[in-house]
Amino acid sequence: MTTGQLIVVDHAVALLSVVAWSAAGATAALRRTRPALGLLVVAVVVTLARVGTVAVLAGRGWWFVREKVLLGLPLLVTVGAAAVAVAGAHLRTGRHTHRTAVVLLLGTGYAALAGLLTTLVAGYPLTVSTGLIAIAAVGGAALLTARVLDNPPAPTGEPTIERRRFLGAAGGAVVAGAGTTGVGLLFLPSEPAAVDGGGTGQTVSVADLRGAGEPAPGGEVRRYTLTARVATVRLPTGREVEAWTFDGRVPGPPVTATEGDVIEVTLRNTDIGDGVTLHWHGYDVPCGEDGAPGVTQDVVRPGGEFVYRFRADQTGTYWYHTHQASHRGVRRGLFGTLVVTPRDRPADDARRLDLTLPVHTYDDTTVLADPDGRTEHTAAVDTPVRLRVVNTDSVPHRLALAGTPFRVAAVDGRDLNRPGEVVRTALRLPAGGRYDLVFVMPDRPVTLVVDDADAVHVRPGGDAGGPVEDPSGWPELDLLRYGVPAAVPFDADGGDVTRHFTMVLDRGVAMVDGSPAFAQTVNGRGHPSVPDQLVAEGDLVRFTVVNRSLETHPWHLHGHPVLVLSRNGTRAAGSPLWMDTFDVRPGEVWRVAFRATNPGVWMNHCHNLAHAHEGMMLRLRYHGVTTPFHGAHTGA
Ligand code: C2O
Ligand code: CU
Repeated sequence: MTTGQLIVVDHAVALLSVVAWSAAGATAALRRTRPALGLLVVAVVVTLARVGTVAVLAGRGWWFVREKVLLGLPLLVTVGAAAVAVAGAHLRTGRHTHRTAVVLLLGTGYAALAGLLTTLVAGYPLTVSTGLIAIAAVGGAALLTARVLDNPPAPTGEPTIERRRFLGAAGGAVVAGAGTTGVGLLFLPSEPAAVDGGGTGQTVSVADLRGAGEPAPGGEVRRYTLTARVATVRLPTGREVEAWTFDGRVPGPPVTATEGDVIEVTLRNTDIGDGVTLHWHGYDVPCGEDGAPGVTQDVVRPGGEFVYRFRADQTGTYWYHTHQASHRGVRRGLFGTLVVTPRDRPADDARRLDLTLPVHTYDDTTVLADPDGRTEHTAAVDTPVRLRVVNTDSVPHRLALAGTPFRVAAVDGRDLNRPGEVVRTALRLPAGGRYDLVFVMPDRPVTLVVDDADAVHVRPGGDAGGPVEDPSGWPELDLLRYGVPAAVPFDADGGDVTRHFTMVLDRGVAMVDGSPAFAQTVNGRGHPSVPDQLVAEGDLVRFTVVNRSLETHPWHLHGHPVLVLSRNGTRAAGSPLWMDTFDVRPGEVWRVAFRATNPGVWMNHCHNLAHAHEGMMLRLRYHGVTTPFHGAHTGA
């Protein structure tokens, strides 16, 4: 069972325990001793099952069970044990049920509920105050129940409750629960303080970390002007949408360059009220060119302008997008593709069919087409073909290439080492990610399928039709086992790591941009209250990213590709895999590493841009780098 499934099962068993204990209490209160006894047995069995699911989950990582082990289970088991001791005896004799027993049974239901709510509402990590609130709530609810049960006059002939004995027992159970839990809470580590990265004491402003001077020998300056404005555009499907565009088109104009060129882009904003910036997704530009509003620049308001300039030393498939209110702006169209081709190209490159294919969802229409909206292409038999697929959405897409064997030549712009040929194999492309698929044109049509719908056809000319295969059942390629291992520039499993950060992703109540929210959290906090990660230039940094939630989080660090080390404890065994956006699915634990060689203040966030907006975003800051920009709202 995957950890994600295990989390769901554990939630279900927790809910069942709430129901079972409450039902036992309610039936006992109605003096139906036989059913009550039966329900008590069920409640005990469910509680033991719960101990089991938590134990299995603990085997997947302490992050998944912390609040359950420290608070939920101790409270449940202590109050439950008292309930069994008192109510069990009463119910078995079949005599009248003492009200203490009823309160303890219901109290166990409250304890189970408090544990479940702590997991769902407070999330990770458990804090002492959350623990105390949960205990107080259970105690308060139990005492209130006692009062309610105590007040109605007992029917004639029934012995009245001895108020003091009953209060004593209920109170004792809660105190015992609190005590056990309190001992658990003592083991909570205190919040780690931010650690400074060390260094020389000199500081530099991101505003001074600006781009390149001159192109490399043989290169040129590639100048673009991108003007952001609202426009009505016609989708390849024929539908018209009101979009936010660069130059009146979606996607925006493709930005291309040859390795060593200088890219210079003038961004203007006509009428995008949110303001815009340009972030070069996956491209390791100097920090001042990174387009993070309020961090690396001020947002470009209507009438404003900003010039980006950087050298295109990195080849491959990338994209650009606004980083201001990006959950809205990117969705509505403020993005485009960025492709940099090598200066020394193989001889047969001239006849290659090279397509850049962003996939984007407008409202509910998913479009996969080249930047001009074309979905039909021809290539003569034996022509090499490269399809550069870019996921500009906030959710992953399933891709399949029907009609030909192919290779995944590059992931997130970086070439893989000796990628093998695959056939009838699907791919899952994370939000923000890119795959370059290559094949040699066969004598029948090739179809690129997205989410099981035909999207792009490449035909060998003539009238070649031919059946399209149905890829819906194809297995997914695991990139952690694809290609051939090769030397990597550092040993991130050995002693070389100089900084290690763990990010536990969850949902919970937290402050986001100054207001309380049911947030997407990193270590229990929302942006901008997530502490900065501090590094020094030259550090070898390792991230452990843990997903405790039931949603996928495509994790994206600006300014640095990360080398994937392992997923769920299993080491990456294929080609070195460098990614700038990797999908951390529910219950997954990823370890990645990178060398800190690009000084700056860098956004580090979930690329489900709605999640980033809901708090799942922080900054990685180099020692000695400061920012003069103070956006109230930095990015998503
Ligand atoms: Cu493509 Cu900060 O994002
Ligand atoms: Cu997310």
